[in-house]
Amino acid sequence: MAVPRRDYDPASLGAAIYPLLNSVVVPRPIAWVSTRSVDGVDNLAPHSFFTISSVVPPVVQFTSVGHKDSLRNAEATGEFVVSLCTEDLIEQVNLTGTDYPPHVSEFDAVGLTREDSKMVAPPRVAESPVALECRVVGTKDFGGGSVVVFGEVVWAVVDEDVLASDRPEIRLMRPVARLGADEWSTVGEISERKRVRYDSLEHPS
Ligand SMILES: Cc1cc2nc3c(=O)[nH]c(=O)nc-3n(C[C@H](O)[C@H](O)[C@H](O)COP(=O)(O)O)c2cc1C
Repeated sequence: MAVPRRDYDPASLGAAIYPLLNSVVVPRPIAWVSTRSVDGVDNLAPHSFFTISSVVPPVVQFTSVGHKDSLRNAEATGEFVVSLCTEDLIEQVNLTGTDYPPHVSEFDAVGLTREDSKMVAPPRVAESPVALECRVVGTKDFGGGSVVVFGEVVWAVVDEDVLASDRPEIRLMRPVARLGADEWSTVGEISERKRVRYDSLEHPS
């Protein structure tokens, strides 16, 4: 007997669709987004609605659910930096998700160190092993309060002690991810699979 399925109709749910999407699109990497306001305040906030949008040119994206400081600053200045959120920084990452007012810098409030970026004004998080410096190349406003910000990666840095064979190594970086509700995760078991090519399969003649 098939398991009964529950139906969800986005048209009648409106914003109440959020817990469903948030719980099924998992695990999500977390972008620690730093921006500088036009008044010079260094803002820092985690965004788990985050992914790669393009390889050439290299573009990443984060989504602001609501009109927050990160979005406002990125739109006003055209710049942001994504730092990697790691296990040893999880408490600080969570604290930077607090709704501090715009004149408060989360770097100071949470006790994180600014590191100068090479290509953009917003600082990197010195404690994080990876930073992607980005210039805004577009935004997409879906009208209901969510705005996607696309940023071309114009410079990237990785701590040498998380590199193995010239590649960032996940066991050394130890990123954290976001799940549904207030759940977080660390990297679990890691396995490898070679990509299967069509030509290597046996085809019925
Ligand atoms: C792990 C984590 C992930 C989050 N992801 C997002 C997200 O993808 N989009 C969003 O708008 N808010 C997200 N938030 C909430 C924001 O970080 C929070 O609203 C923050 O105060 C926004 O700061 P800002 O106003 O300085 O931009 C997340 C919070 C946490 C702790």
